[in-house]
Amino acid sequence: MIVIRSGSTVRKTHSCGELSLENKGEIVVLQGWVHRRRDLGGVLFIDLRDREGITQIVFNSQIYPELHKKAQELSREYVVSIKGKVSERSDETKNQKFITDQIKTGEIEIICEEFEILNPCSSNLPISRLDEEGEKLLPGEEMRLKYRYLDLRRKKMFENLKLRHKIVKVIRDFLDREGFLEVETPMLIRTTPEGARDYLVPSRIHRGKFYALPQSPQLFKQLLMVAGFEKYFQIARCMRDEDLRSDRQPEFTQLDLEMSFITREDIFLVIERLFQYVLKTVLNQELPIPFPRLTYAESIQKYGTDKPDLRFGLQIQDFADCFSKTNFKVYQDVLGSKGVINGIHLKDGAKEFTSRSKLDLLLEQWKLKGVKELTYLLWVGQKEFRSPIGKHVGDGEKEKLVEKLNPETGDVTFLVSGEKDRSLEALGKLRIELAERVSLIPKEERKFHFSWIVDFPMFFWNEEEKRLDPAHHPFTSPLPEDIALLDLKPLECRANAYDLVLNGYEIASGSIRIHQRPLQEKIFELIGLTLKQAYEKFGFLLDAFQYGAPPHGGIAPGIDRLVMILAGADSIREVIAFPKNQSAQDLMLGAPVEVPENQLEELALKVNLPSR
Ligand code: AMO
Repeated sequence: MIVIRSGSTVRKTHSCGELSLENKGEIVVLQGWVHRRRDLGGVLFIDLRDREGITQIVFNSQIYPELHKKAQELSREYVVSIKGKVSERSDETKNQKFITDQIKTGEIEIICEEFEILNPCSSNLPISRLDEEGEKLLPGEEMRLKYRYLDLRRKKMFENLKLRHKIVKVIRDFLDREGFLEVETPMLIRTTPEGARDYLVPSRIHRGKFYALPQSPQLFKQLLMVAGFEKYFQIARCMRDEDLRSDRQPEFTQLDLEMSFITREDIFLVIERLFQYVLKTVLNQELPIPFPRLTYAESIQKYGTDKPDLRFGLQIQDFADCFSKTNFKVYQDVLGSKGVINGIHLKDGAKEFTSRSKLDLLLEQWKLKGVKELTYLLWVGQKEFRSPIGKHVGDGEKEKLVEKLNPETGDVTFLVSGEKDRSLEALGKLRIELAERVSLIPKEERKFHFSWIVDFPMFFWNEEEKRLDPAHHPFTSPLPEDIALLDLKPLECRANAYDLVLNGYEIASGSIRIHQRPLQEKIFELIGLTLKQAYEKFGFLLDAFQYGAPPHGGIAPGIDRLVMILAGADSIREVIAFPKNQSAQDLMLGAPVEVPENQLEELALKVNLPSR
C-alpha cells in the first residue's frame, strides 16, 4: 500500500545549526535529513542535517523504548521531523570538532520524544556519503552532475553557492551606492561578436529566421550609454558555443558594466574599490589598491602570457646576450634567424629535480607537447653546471651566465630557444608547472593577486582567413596616440583595452569604446566588413552613433571565475548550481536532445545528419 503523506503539520522551531547550551531544557522541533547514524545497542544516535548545520538526536531505549524501536527504520538521507528536549552532552560525548570549529551544537543533543518520517530515501544512493569525510568516496563528476541535487546537499557545495550569493549581493549593494542602475537586456537577439559561435534559436513566426542568444550584452550596454543612462550594470547571463575548459561554460554569468564621460582610470578605480569591498565584506581580507599594471607586451615578455600569476616571481629572462658569440651551431642559427634564447632560473630547483634523470624526463614530456627546444643547466657549483648542451657551452658563455645569474649549487636554469612567440608561450607554461612542482603557489594561505594588463594590440592576424581579427571586440577604441597606425601598421596599433587578472586567470575584460561613426566604420572595414555588410549587421549601432553618443567605456568581470577563485575551487562547475559537463551536456536533464518531428515542422527545420 502506498501511503501518501501530506506533510507534517508540525513546524520546525529551530535550524540544525542553531541550538546551544543556552537552549538547555527547551522542547524543540527540528526537521532535516538523516546525515549519519550510530547504533550503540541501547542508544541510537542520529546526526540530523539541514543547510545550517548538524544536531545530534538521541533515541534512548531506556527512556522511550517504543521510539527507539521505531527509529531503527531511520537510514541515511531520510527526511524526518523530530521533537525533543535540548540536553547537555556528557563531557566524553561533547563533540570536540564541533567545539573547536565553534559550531554551537557540539555541546548539546536532543533527546527525541516524538518523530515523524516525512519521506524515506532509497538505500542505493548514487552519492553514498554526503558528509565531509565522504569526499574521498565521491563518484566521478558525471554522477555528481546527473544527481546534482544530491551533490548540492554536500556542505561544500552549499557553501560555494552561498559564497556566490553573497558576492553577487555585495556587488549589487556597492554599485547601487555608486549610482549604477541595473538594467536587464534581451536574450533573443542578433549576434554579438565576442569571438565564439552563437547559440541560435529558430523563430516560429518568422520561419527560416533565427535569433541568437547573447554572448554578452555588449551592444545593449553601449546603446544604454547613447540613451544617457551613464552608469549601468547587470548580472548578465551569457551564452557561447565554444570549446570548454575548467574555467569555461557554455552559459555563464558576467557582471556587465558601462560608464559614460569617463577614462579608463575611472573604470579601474570603480573595479578596484568594488573588489576591495567584496574581499573585505565576504572574506574579511584587506586588498591593497591600486592594482599593479603591466602592459600586454611586458606581460608576454616577462611571463609568457597575458594572464600572469603574480603570486610568485620566476620571470622569463632573455639569454641572447650570453650566447651572442657562441660556437654552438644550434644557438648560432637561432640568433642568426631573428630567434631568441629565453629562460627561467629556478633557485634551489634541485629540491624537486633531485637527479638529472628527473630533468631529462621533464624534457621528454615537453618534447611530447611539441617543445623540442627546451634544455636545462643544473648548477653543481657557483660556476659549474651539468646540461645536455654542456659540451657546446664555451668558457666565455659560461662566464656571462654566471655574471647574469649569480647561481648557487642546486639552482636550475631552463632555456627555450627558437621563434620568439613560441619560446615565450612555452616558458609561460613551464613557469606555472615549475611553480606548482616546487610549491611556490600558496594553496592553504588564500592569497589574491589582482593585476591590470593594459595596451593590448588592436588586432591579431587571422592566418586562416588572411585578415585582421579584433583582439578584444570591434567596438574597442584604439589608443588615441596610435590612431595614425590604423592605416599604416594596424598590427602595431594598440587598443584602449584592458584585462583584470587574478591568480593567473583572466577574470575581466573591457575597453574604452568607439563612439564616433567614422572610426567605427573604419574598424569594420579593417576587419574585412564592407560598408554594406557592416550596415546589415550593425546598422543600429552606426545609426545610434549619429544621434549624440557620449564617450563611454566598460568592463565585464566573469562571476563564475571570480567565485571559483575566492572559493578555492579548481573548476567553475564547482560554483554553478547546474553546470554543463565538458561536452556541453546537462546530464541531469539529458540535454541537448532530439525534438519531435512536429516541433521541427512548425519551425520549418529538418535535421540532416551526415551519415558517419
Ligand atoms: P570577454 O569576452 O572577455 O568580454 O568576457 C569577459 C569575462 O567573462 C568571463 N568569461 C567566461 N566565463 C566562463 N565561461 C566562459 N565561456 C567565459 N567567457 C568569458 C571571463 C572574461 O574575462 N563584452 C565584453 C566585455 C566588455 O568589453 O565590457 C566581454 O564579454 O572572466
